[in-house]
Amino acid sequence: MQDIIAKLEVKRAEAAMGGGQRRIDNQHAKGKLTARERLDVLLDEGSFEEWDMFVEHDCVDFGMPENRIPGDGVVTGHGTINGRLVFVFSQDFTVFGGALSGAHARKICKIMDQAMKVGAPVIGLNDSGGARIQEGVESLAGYADVFQRNVEASGVIPQISLIMGPCAGGAVYSPAMTDFIFMVKDSSYMFVTGPDVVKTVTHEEVTHEELGGAMTHTSISGVADLAFENDVDLLLQTRRFMDFLPLSNKEKPPARLCEDPIMRDDFSLDTLVPENPNMPYDMKELITKVVDEGDFYEIQPDHAKNIIIGMARMDGRTVGIVANQPMVLAGCLDIASSKKAARFVRFCDAYNIPIVTFVDVPGFMPGTAQEYGGIIKHGAKLLYAYAEATVPKVTVITRKAYGGAYDVMASKHLRGDVNYAWPTAEIAVMGPKGAVEIIFRADMNDPEKIEARTEEYREKFANPFVAGRKGFIDDVIMPHGTRRRVCKSLAMLRNKDIKNPARKHGNIPL
Ligand code: COA
Repeated sequence: MQDIIAKLEVKRAEAAMGGGQRRIDNQHAKGKLTARERLDVLLDEGSFEEWDMFVEHDCVDFGMPENRIPGDGVVTGHGTINGRLVFVFSQDFTVFGGALSGAHARKICKIMDQAMKVGAPVIGLNDSGGARIQEGVESLAGYADVFQRNVEASGVIPQISLIMGPCAGGAVYSPAMTDFIFMVKDSSYMFVTGPDVVKTVTHEEVTHEELGGAMTHTSISGVADLAFENDVDLLLQTRRFMDFLPLSNKEKPPARLCEDPIMRDDFSLDTLVPENPNMPYDMKELITKVVDEGDFYEIQPDHAKNIIIGMARMDGRTVGIVANQPMVLAGCLDIASSKKAARFVRFCDAYNIPIVTFVDVPGFMPGTAQEYGGIIKHGAKLLYAYAEATVPKVTVITRKAYGGAYDVMASKHLRGDVNYAWPTAEIAVMGPKGAVEIIFRADMNDPEKIEARTEEYREKFANPFVAGRKGFIDDVIMPHGTRRRVCKSLAMLRNKDIKNPARKHGNIPL
């Protein structure tokens, strides 16, 4: 017995050392924490229960039988974040470069299966040289086993990917299928093929960072959601993020005591929208003034900035915020912003998170780049996402709601539950100038007439009352009372229960 206990201690110590002190020092020298140090920061102190510490690979080629390290390059198990259960896997770059073997993949699959059984999120900490080269197809099979589980878990349990080192080739597709990807600046990258292959195939010279670093993916490609300065920053912010999410699709989002009065008025909002309809203003000001304690967790802040998405709380309960941003491209919907918002709306809907939408949209972005890029199909994604969403939907039109974009942005017609407009709202097919130039083309050479017609159009349509008369707007509200009205609507909608028709799945325009 004593013998076994001593052996156990040796094995545990071996596993804890991963690839050894030299490689741990190398990891630290790159500004990175080790797999276990990361879990210490991510999880509540003492909450981590490790599984499969003694698992080893079963590769018999390339001298691998003499080279076995307990745990095989990934630390797996479960723990809590602020007392709430999460499953984790943390790849250990000090062990075979965190490369994925059959055994490594089986460890990840095991915790994913368990997370599905009990209904809790999976957080993956990725830091890996990719497929374990010595194992060949065994390793590729391992990836596919993980992919299959990513897909089955999609919409059932939240899946979060933290990219904290290399993530290349096939390895990128597991994170790609998870709900959110957070990256560390300067020490992480994601790409399908690295700079060397890129140079051979397309003759482009590009660095790792330019091709797939955190800034590239959070601003240009939109593949990743947030970029953080270092490991600790990312892990602490992930803890904060998880507080917003339900543990599974069977739960309502978490509620907590709200010290910010729901009846709080904010009179500065009455002057937020400028007199001149072509002047921008910052929609983020409205969001932070309306949500609990000004706490808005923005997602993808550097990509498709013409739309804002993120998590917040109203009366202590999580809501998803979607808002046009008049400061960027006048808040137009384009390909990137439609895709960004559509995926977020679907995430909220899958996890019972009510959606609050703030609208100031002059329409879809014109141009060949947009049309050739398929704006029709991509814009339809957002329309589809809003229309299929069955969670509570509360919409506030602050200014422009023009054309098809009016319909798309959680309008009454797409089963918006409560649709408010500020007195400054203009709900019409298009802006007065454009409208008059089309319907009174014959008067184009008479500026006085055009001016009069424009005024007439503005009077008739550039206000919320036409839509109000038809019941498309439930009420015209004073900006200062927005928080109060939205909170009350969300409270009224708490037990909303509607279902889409039974079907295998819809066919969203992908
Ligand atoms: N399979 C097996 N072992 C791997 C590996 C892989 N895919 N990737 C890295 N390793 C091992 C290395 O052999 C090295 O082992 P050692 O510590 O015993 O010397 C260790 O991991 C660290 O790798 P190293 O290359 O020294 O680290 P680096 O920081 O300089 O470079 C990478 C990191 C990921 C850029 C580089 O290792 C690499 O290009 N790996 C291969 C990537 C790949 O093509 N994967 C297969 C396609 S999915």
